[in-house]
Amino acid sequence: MIAKHDVLVVGAGCAGMRAAIEAHDAGADVAMISKLHPTRSHSGAAEGGINAALGNAAEDSPEIHAFDTVKGSDYLGDQDSIEIFCAEAPGDIIQLEHWGAVFSRRADGKLAQRPFGAAGSPRTVYAADITGHVLIQVLWEQVCKREITVYEEFFAWQLVVNDGRCQGVICWDLLRGGLKTLGGKTIVMATGGAGRQYRATTNAYACTGDGMAMALHAGLPLKDMEFMQFHPTTLYPSGVLITEGCRGEGGYLINKDGERFMKRYAPNALELASRDVVSRSEQTEIDEGRGVNGSVFLDLRHLGAERILERLPGSRELAMTFAGVDPIYDPIPVRPGAHYHMGGIATDSDGATELDGLYAAGECACVSIHGANRLGGNSLMETITFGRRAGRAAAEWALSHTTVEVPESAERDAERELRELLSREEGERPWKLREELGQSMLENFGVFRREEGMARQIEIIQGLRERYRNVYVEDKGHVFNSDLTQAIELGNMLDTALCMVTAGLARKESRGAHSRPYDYPNRDDENFLHHSITRWRDGEVELSTAPVRMTKWEPQERKY
Ligand code: FUM
Repeated sequence: MIAKHDVLVVGAGCAGMRAAIEAHDAGADVAMISKLHPTRSHSGAAEGGINAALGNAAEDSPEIHAFDTVKGSDYLGDQDSIEIFCAEAPGDIIQLEHWGAVFSRRADGKLAQRPFGAAGSPRTVYAADITGHVLIQVLWEQVCKREITVYEEFFAWQLVVNDGRCQGVICWDLLRGGLKTLGGKTIVMATGGAGRQYRATTNAYACTGDGMAMALHAGLPLKDMEFMQFHPTTLYPSGVLITEGCRGEGGYLINKDGERFMKRYAPNALELASRDVVSRSEQTEIDEGRGVNGSVFLDLRHLGAERILERLPGSRELAMTFAGVDPIYDPIPVRPGAHYHMGGIATDSDGATELDGLYAAGECACVSIHGANRLGGNSLMETITFGRRAGRAAAEWALSHTTVEVPESAERDAERELRELLSREEGERPWKLREELGQSMLENFGVFRREEGMARQIEIIQGLRERYRNVYVEDKGHVFNSDLTQAIELGNMLDTALCMVTAGLARKESRGAHSRPYDYPNRDDENFLHHSITRWRDGEVELSTAPVRMTKWEPQERKY
């Protein structure tokens, strides 16, 4: 063990940094572990904004925000967590603003708020269309100000569970090579999502579900893994995110005939229906031959150059760079792309998992405010509110416990596993399996799902897992061995993908992002108003269920 701390935060995006800041302010000795430099974390790619019921643009309240979130979740979100989230979000925004977040403002000086999908009021606070980037910088300043230790370019690989508690993390040192173990009285996982399981995704190359897999392999439950959100406007063909803020500012979706097709699918909310609804509508247009090259179009031309340049400059630049289209003059080709995992490591509303000493926050966690479908803008807010709560709870627990012990056997076992992987002289290359996973997940576990497609996908993943046992790392070096880390990431993606599809196959209904129009087109509250729980038992997935925590909203039909 090279060092020990009261609180170890794994991941340094918005959730990780917010947790570290809070744990530090609660009096704990904190360190962060990150496979990237913190300001390169994927949170920085969040564009359109962050939701809090400030009521600056129209009447709003935490209660209305909570109802929108419950309804958006297709009634699968845990309502107690949602109520806490919506009540605490406004205070968290004000604090970010006081820390220097340069949010866009109204003429009267108040923070500006734009409409986002399925929101009953314009409540998305934003910094033009680079909100995540702004937040990452602000949080990083706060981390630096507090001189919080960062183990940068450390790839977290395994959790150390000792004496019934989580007490450390075994990492691969990307810069210098070698396994390095860090001890912590508490560990906060904040490692983000796993969108790279799909070939078409908004997610950065680093989003490989490492934290979810580490928790899974340590025996923890992953909750609601079947719910992968497809964002309706990802750039064709690269998958780069074009923010929902474009539609919030008034952008239209049109098909190849120039028809504003959302009128047929969601006559009231139109382009600002919830993401699951918009993605399904687009996919239907594409499948029925009204798309172009597997995409539809996002039309901003009527907004005019001035508004596009003021509110959506980043989206314009992305469209120009990655699709060769200037949205001032031409519509942007877009299609649904894998964007966000609603599921993750099961936690309570303080980020605590069922293992003493282990907490989780942000996309890798499932505190369960998103249920079956997340509202745009709720995830940046989640990173802040639940990052803060998890950081505080982890610090309080750490400060009331004194010992950290990492048995030598844990490090020895990890060394042996690594040597075994590196000593292989032949086998299949990780990139090949990764491509097959990405393509097949898109085909068999995408916007629309079929029984036989999901069953086939389980076979495909099992086949890939079998071949993975013989995966070959060509680079035997120690410094920046991305061949090695990609091999480990692939294992993480395969195991978490197996959880997703196993839970999806068992959910014989359509709810939120899990859509089975061909066999179970409706939501079935009688049989499926429950969370899916997946655990790792003897190297395979064990599936069970858990009740949804309801406070005051009974399930109703969702109409947009
Ligand atoms: O469209 C967007 O700007 C993405 C926001 C989100 O996923 O919350």
